[in-house]
Amino acid sequence: MEKFSTALEMVTALKPDIPVFAARPHAAGRAARWFTQNFPGEVAYAYKANSSVFLLGALYGAGITQFDVASVVELEDAATIPGVRLHFMHPVKSRHAIRKAYFDYDIKCFALDSEDELQKIVEETGGAKDLELFVRIAVPSKNSRIPLERKFGVVGQRAQRLLVKTRQVADELGITFHVGSQTTTPDAYGMAFDEVKKLIVKAGVVVDAIDVGGGFPSRYTDSVPARLEDFIEVIKASMAKMPVTEHCRLICEPGRALVAEAESLIVKVDLRKGDELYINDGGYGALYDSAQLGFVFPVRLIRDGLDTNEPLLPFEFWGPTCDSIDHMKGPFLLPASVREGDYIEIGNIGAYGRALSTRFNGYGHYKEVILQDEPMYSIYTEDDLPIANEA
Ligand SMILES: Cc1ncc(COP(=O)(O)O)c(C=O)c1O
Repeated sequence: MEKFSTALEMVTALKPDIPVFAARPHAAGRAARWFTQNFPGEVAYAYKANSSVFLLGALYGAGITQFDVASVVELEDAATIPGVRLHFMHPVKSRHAIRKAYFDYDIKCFALDSEDELQKIVEETGGAKDLELFVRIAVPSKNSRIPLERKFGVVGQRAQRLLVKTRQVADELGITFHVGSQTTTPDAYGMAFDEVKKLIVKAGVVVDAIDVGGGFPSRYTDSVPARLEDFIEVIKASMAKMPVTEHCRLICEPGRALVAEAESLIVKVDLRKGDELYINDGGYGALYDSAQLGFVFPVRLIRDGLDTNEPLLPFEFWGPTCDSIDHMKGPFLLPASVREGDYIEIGNIGAYGRALSTRFNGYGHYKEVILQDEPMYSIYTEDDLPIANEA
């Protein structure tokens, strides 16, 4: 893997014709250290967010040894990391996946949100007595970019019944929730804990673990979240009010917040038409969230001798495929002189960028490099960050 000090050094040396994933493992390591030092419980990484070996290595090196996996392929991959503890937190799993997880990979920890799923887990593990079962409850989503409560989660009397039934077969009973990805204010976690508390009291069960899921935010051009410290404060204060013993485990499963700022995408401009730039990756590639959900990632032009006083203009991006939904509206602020052949760094795409890219139209091939400089935005440091273009 080639290493460069900066994106400019990389494009000067390689002049890449395909898009480049530029990983900054040191940024993933910094994020992991922040979480392991500040979160008042166990930190598991949501493997789905980015499975680059360089970022996984950095997370692991910084002390993350628990991983949340969502499929057989993810668990098989994650299980190759020495000494890991895996949590299978997808609330709906095939019978085959449950068997494989329990018998081949020694996974004891499963999420569920229905009695039918509970029965599947019991049947497929042969009535195992060592299961850690987490009931996934639906919680209100507040200030989240990608709410998740419609697809998964149980509420009300159904949730109470499920907790009681799960308690009867679980060695360890947990409650889990997800406030929605890119949640920008901590009150969402406070509201979720209120639901957890009500449910524990009404169901009258002993709960051994609370898993607050992911949802912790990163920074984007169009999204400036509250400080991570504020999220931790709300979680600590809420946990202190839970009707559980001091032995109750507290777990989190961040994906986005651990890796978002640890990877950039370097694209080449194939054509300019006014304020529209045709670039060599897009909505079927690592910019899915920009095309489909309107994320505005930070950008900067990577050109030798760039006049930093040049005025900035708002641009839209078109991806390389022949599909007209391959469009990223932005606005992405770039120097007025941007032209065909220029390279652009699109920052903070580490969460779900690489993970969501497809091979549509024969694209989806990337070069990979490591960069040693800082990302355009970091929620973990303000030291010497390069300038991201902002209005
Ligand atoms: C069960 C579970 N845990 C954790 C995550 C990670 O979420 P985020 O990337 O918002 O931190 C997800 C994302 O979908 C999830 O489904």
